Amino acid sequence: MCGIVGYIGNQNAQDIVVNGLEKLEYRGYDSSGIATISNGKLELSKFKGRLSVLKEHLKKQPHTGFIGIGHTRWATHGEPSDVNSHPHINESESVAVIHNGIIENYRDLKAELIKEGYKFKSQTDTEVIVHLIDHYLEDSKDIMKAVNLAVKRLRGAYALGIIYKNEPDKIIAVRNESPLVVGIGKGENFFASDIPAILSYTKEVYYIDNEEMVVLTKDSITIYNLEGEKIEKEKSVITWDMESATKAGYPHFMLKEINEQPQAISDTLLRRIDKNNNLILDDIRLDEDEIQKIKDIYIVACGTAYNAGLIGKYIIENLANLRVRVDIASEFRYNKQFINENTLVILVSQSGETADTLAAQKLAKTKGCRILSITNVVGSSVARNSDDVFYTLAGPEIAVASTKAYTTMLVAFYMIGVELAKLKQEISIEDYHNIVEKLKKLPQKVKETLSVEKKCIEIAEKIKNSKSAFYIGRGLDDSVGKEGALKLKEISYIYTESFAAGELKHGTIALIEKDTPVIAVVTQDKLLDKTMSNIQEVKARGAYTIIITDKHIEDVKNYADDVIQIPEVYDMFSSILAVIPAQFIAYYTSIKKGNDVDKPRNLAKSVTVE
Ligand code: F6R
Repeated sequence: MCGIVGYIGNQNAQDIVVNGLEKLEYRGYDSSGIATISNGKLELSKFKGRLSVLKEHLKKQPHTGFIGIGHTRWATHGEPSDVNSHPHINESESVAVIHNGIIENYRDLKAELIKEGYKFKSQTDTEVIVHLIDHYLEDSKDIMKAVNLAVKRLRGAYALGIIYKNEPDKIIAVRNESPLVVGIGKGENFFASDIPAILSYTKEVYYIDNEEMVVLTKDSITIYNLEGEKIEKEKSVITWDMESATKAGYPHFMLKEINEQPQAISDTLLRRIDKNNNLILDDIRLDEDEIQKIKDIYIVACGTAYNAGLIGKYIIENLANLRVRVDIASEFRYNKQFINENTLVILVSQSGETADTLAAQKLAKTKGCRILSITNVVGSSVARNSDDVFYTLAGPEIAVASTKAYTTMLVAFYMIGVELAKLKQEISIEDYHNIVEKLKKLPQKVKETLSVEKKCIEIAEKIKNSKSAFYIGRGLDDSVGKEGALKLKEISYIYTESFAAGELKHGTIALIEKDTPVIAVVTQDKLLDKTMSNIQEVKARGAYTIIITDKHIEDVKNYADDVIQIPEVYDMFSSILAVIPAQFIAYYTSIKKGNDVDKPRNLAKSVTVE
């Protein structure tokens, strides 16, 4: 969590750093701060609250100087407050540090530093870093050496940015387990947690790996390992532009991202299908022999990505006839596992930086599992440590509530499921081509589904004051319900749960009162009648029933107070359409309640702490 950004060059550092922080606010927004060096002095401003608080202050008391670092915080150690905000500085006010991550051994280090006489002002883990650097500076007087010695003492995750008033011609950035990208400019250079922060200035970047340290001057970028040896790295060129990282006329990123789904799905899907309806999954190098070795599949992920994994399980089990288990990443390490070199572990992560998912990846690697990741971020940590990577091509997702990342993850699972089925000869070549033909129709069908927006606005008006709400469904529809419930609760703050429809009568139905919204997802032919009975059961108890369905519209109307009709597709792929009304309902309910849709309370986009 947290966003960091740094600049060195010939422009006013404050403007560039603050501009970068605006793009990173999705990573945390409970406080922000900036440090610059000007006329041999370190200037610092940092405040609790949204970035707007810092910006207001800077209007009155602007920083000058051409070198600066900035931070937007999602609190882990110590409440949001001015003093806990970053940057943190040492007592002599010569060094400033920003940090994204968690230092696990900070208590031991703090005790040691206190013994030495260091005084701590904040409750953060980060403050130990600045004092450690200060400690090593005493002997070495060289910021690079001091940072190197300090980070060797740290255990945990960090992406750090450091400036030192006595060496005002350089910024140091270091990474271990938290994302860090360096932007290459002309007469200026940048670093940040994520590309949008620097994309207005450059498209050429270096992705920094674990245990690497970068020294940026305005004319040079030098990368070292922690042994102090120089490392050569290949530049990467960003192919998307600022338009895709800004709202482009939409009031919120979430609404923009919902509407981008036809394009995102088309980009993820169509470039992987050739003219003869063959899938081209170059990114996955599993051949027929290797597939035969795979006995089990584990899908491991968090939140929305986990919900996508539930659909993935259904698809792979039913198409490829392979046993699949889905684990929440934060539980994976603590569960009894049956994994070995014959297990394929599929990690799903939009950001590719989620700490729990990375920890699961580490464990799976030690057990010799083959690792396939599905991620939206090229060069992310999850991607770099996988045997095979399926990149969803959704473009940057900025809203905290995930939408297009989820639907493109479903595309990934559809394609992987179909390909595995072919490799395992579970389907004939003819069926394979037919299914691929059905896949090709999805972008257009998703586009048509966006027309449910108006109906969802009406429904949002009706449910906005509800205390609780429920999603129900069976099979794939139950999994869509899980994602619908997560969307609604995380941005509308209405307590929402999702249940397998048949399970209601075993307890949950006691929660149904007059006008409790129950949203039923009904897309699976073979389960239609059964779910309809369950809808009747809740309707009989006064629920306000809403049905999302692609079929039998006339029959369904008798059971529902409101019906949202979506286009009909192959049952196996209907989830990708059924989730769209759920996204709209969540969005408009949140708007009607006056919530901050893109930045819901207590959340951050990229969860880089365990
Ligand atoms: C909810 C949401 C989160 C993420 C989860 C995992 O809308 O976005 O639940 O899905 O934090 O994030 P990634 O996919 O980046 O690993």
